[in-house]
Amino acid sequence: MKNIALQRIKEMKSYNPPLSGRRGFSGILLDFNERTLPPPLKVQKAIQDFLTTNKLQVYPEYGGLEKKLAKYVGVNADQIMITNGSDQAIDIIFRTFTKTDDTVIIPTPSFAMFYQSAQIMGNKILTPLYKKADLSFPINEVLGMINKSVKLIVVCNPNNPTGTLVSINDIKKIAQKASNSIVLVDEAYFEFSGVSAVPLINKYPNIIVTRTLSKAFGLASLRVGYIVASNIYINEFLKIRGPYDVNMVALSAAFASLEDFKKIQNYVDEVMTKAKPMVEEFFNKNDVTYYSSSANFILFKPNNNQVGRLLKENGILLRPQDKTNIENTLRVSIGTVKQMKQFIEVYENVILSKPKYAFLDRDGTLIFEPQDTFQIDSIEKLRILDGVIKGLKELNNRGYELIMISNQNGIGTASFPKANFEIPQNKMLSIFKKNGITFKEIFICPHLPSENCNCRKPKTGLVEKFLIKNQINKDKSFVCGDRPTDKLFAKNIGVKFVYMQTNGNFYNALMKGGIIV
Ligand SMILES: Cc1ncc(COP(=O)(O)O)c(C=O)c1O
Repeated sequence: MKNIALQRIKEMKSYNPPLSGRRGFSGILLDFNERTLPPPLKVQKAIQDFLTTNKLQVYPEYGGLEKKLAKYVGVNADQIMITNGSDQAIDIIFRTFTKTDDTVIIPTPSFAMFYQSAQIMGNKILTPLYKKADLSFPINEVLGMINKSVKLIVVCNPNNPTGTLVSINDIKKIAQKASNSIVLVDEAYFEFSGVSAVPLINKYPNIIVTRTLSKAFGLASLRVGYIVASNIYINEFLKIRGPYDVNMVALSAAFASLEDFKKIQNYVDEVMTKAKPMVEEFFNKNDVTYYSSSANFILFKPNNNQVGRLLKENGILLRPQDKTNIENTLRVSIGTVKQMKQFIEVYENVILSKPKYAFLDRDGTLIFEPQDTFQIDSIEKLRILDGVIKGLKELNNRGYELIMISNQNGIGTASFPKANFEIPQNKMLSIFKKNGITFKEIFICPHLPSENCNCRKPKTGLVEKFLIKNQINKDKSFVCGDRPTDKLFAKNIGVKFVYMQTNGNFYNALMKGGIIV
């Protein structure tokens, strides 16, 4: 068969984002800047309700949603048109305003669909680059490129994948200078940035804003976007969009989302005011270079080129970027605090190899400490405390390395021969081993208090070399013990203290101490 498709279409590549296997991925998806939680329950219910209306056979009708969106956006209903995702909005705008050989400006790197739509139309694409140093918007270059042949300028605000925010003042400058061209302002991440060019539309009708319910609202799979523009242009767009391009399931969900906007706002607040600063602080602390972002994602330079793969193997999917000026970077979407804690934890353990340690006292914490007799010097006296096996297993599961650290007064003296210590000690370790629990290190101070050694807790002599040799994650490591000396020891090595009541329940102590939540 002769392929008689347009030459320029034949020369294009299809836009193939790395979707394969995402839906079945059991970890956290931080690769597509989606909402990382399902949409609110009311939205899910609205979808179920629609499916039971017995109206699947009736064509869609949009009026109500456009009114509701207009209220949300703060414009008239005739200044809004809903689309099948904002991808369709972008495509419609390129089709309405450009033809073959028209010049368009797409500040680069940016979202793939802009290039796709421009290529379909046969546009000449100018690509001023976001500045290499800080990925700021190349305002002077864009202004310098504007002339009569430029028909459309893209301002992706904030820009995907750089996160760059363009100031409203710069958008005004572009709209003024390009008064005979269209300024397409993509606000897919508006809910996160809080910055919008919508209030400029009445004064500058060449500004056209696209938005989506795929991101903060969490409706990516249903495909709802919209265009905000002067009603003259909306009338033109309506000639291109099919009358039923957005389906009624999507419409029901969109409607319910706007009704339950408080929930959407709560999610946005958590992402932007809690989770994102936490990730930034983590990057700062660990000298990971990242770019300032006004959206729910951050572009960063990983420590090495294995980071993306290693994170994926450990349940966290990010999006690698390799475009001009952002070579070898990764983009991480920001989700909830809990999810980002997990991201940080995996990054720390797998990439920075900074393991977290549980420094555990022995007598009164792991095994019964008799009140009447002084030492556990025979197997008969050995009793593993409640919650110890369960707690140690849980620590293992949570990636803690176990360290035992104990003061044993006078091992090797006549009253406490070495063998009398070792027999119950080895028995205890063999019970642990049978349960799959092993200690990375065991530190025992054999001295009497009177010897004034430098290794008896709360002194740190026993672990000094260990702490120098091993990069320990001080934020996540902890000491658990039943005595004030344990508490002071934790302070001396700079980690958290988890109190255990003498001979109490170890698992409960870990829960109380916030280690197991
Ligand atoms: C800047 C930008 N615009 C538009 C979109 C497309 O969104 P939608 O799902 O509404 O087509 C995306 C999605 O990643 C985006 O990053």
